[in-house]
Amino acid sequence: MDDDSPAGFRARAGWTREQARAIERTAATTAPVFYPPETDQIPDYHVWDTWFLRTRTGRLATVDGYRVCFSLTAPADLLPGKRHDVATIRVFYSADGRNWRDGGPVFEDALGQRQWAGSALYDDGEVYLFYTAAGEESAPELTYTQRIVAASGGTIHTTEGFELRGPWTHHELLQPDGERYEREAQSRAMIYTFRDPWFFEDPATGETWLLFEANSPVPEGSDACGGDAGQQEYNGSVGLARSPTGDPLAWELDEPLLDAVGVNQELERPHIVHKDGRYYLFVSSHLHTFGPGLSGFDGLYGFVADELRGDYAPLNGSGLVATNPENAPFQAYSWMAFPHDGEVLVQSFFNYYDFAGATLDEISGLSDSEQMRRFGGTLGPTLRLDVEGAGTRILGKLGHWEIPMAGESLPPTDRERIDATERRSGYDTR
Ligand code: FRU
Repeated sequence: MDDDSPAGFRARAGWTREQARAIERTAATTAPVFYPPETDQIPDYHVWDTWFLRTRTGRLATVDGYRVCFSLTAPADLLPGKRHDVATIRVFYSADGRNWRDGGPVFEDALGQRQWAGSALYDDGEVYLFYTAAGEESAPELTYTQRIVAASGGTIHTTEGFELRGPWTHHELLQPDGERYEREAQSRAMIYTFRDPWFFEDPATGETWLLFEANSPVPEGSDACGGDAGQQEYNGSVGLARSPTGDPLAWELDEPLLDAVGVNQELERPHIVHKDGRYYLFVSSHLHTFGPGLSGFDGLYGFVADELRGDYAPLNGSGLVATNPENAPFQAYSWMAFPHDGEVLVQSFFNYYDFAGATLDEISGLSDSEQMRRFGGTLGPTLRLDVEGAGTRILGKLGHWEIPMAGESLPPTDRERIDATERRSGYDTR
């Protein structure tokens, strides 16, 4: 599939417009309506993009009995639309996977003007935090540059309650090369991305990878998308870097894992679940980032391959794995899938749950108090997903912030409960 066109655009295996045209809400891909939690566990902060501390083998870590997660946060009295401009990473911990406590901001001296999403590795008793440094720390005004960075040196102490301590050392890991990964100056679109690093050690080969959200360079005059300049601006990709030695701080850029030129501008927070020997690659994307002539939803999209480098085929034919219901199309965003008890669980944040406008942009037309009222700003209910070959099916949900502990079995799904009742009463509907 690799070919060098005269205009310098290299077509790669990816998500095609034909596949994306098949996106539709079905019973298998539509989440149930999410309602606000009875109590907001972290009332002082808006909480959105979240990632769990994981071991090298990709399991959610348990440290002295605690599950640990990291989230982008902002003060709860801030207008939710402004939160990206002040995002700060805080750590949360839980002894039961249901009740979470705030362990405070992680850094005092992070890179960037603010910090965006990442991932976290627990290796040999040390915490490595990969994150996006957004904005130039030296610029007086807000800037939108994005660098992929990491902090090393974190340790967890639990003798007097939970504490994540430094001193942290911050390292710049990757910058776009302008060939495989677009630089900001090359961007022809409104949106530019080079962010959201996610650590993955391949259990089959032992190789160490960093996935990230990026864009593919498509020069002016390129013949990509039949030369359609409008479509070419939608140039999202899943980036890939390799650590030849397994060192979490030494990376080399590699070829992108997946290209979505002409299809979608933003393939956010890419991550992999390795299941039944296959590689399930997931990304979050928005309704408004699909290219001209395509319509998708705010949703979790997924692809499957037999090898890490692909070729990836879209799950369920179109790529859509989970979206919000039609009457609450923005209730959740920024999904993270992880394996548990034979299923795949999917955590996301509770977004604008009481809003069914055509696009999220309309939110800014509402009064400040209405914007605040309609925003969740906490973790949403965890979805349960059946993943089999190239097909997936939503099975049900757990509670808000509910992340089962290691070895904990999942309750029967609603469907299983109905089946069991029918069996007991001798009534078989099949
Ligand atoms: C997804 C996202 C991430 C980014 C963060 C910034 O919700 O756009 O890609 O790191 O939000 O707040």
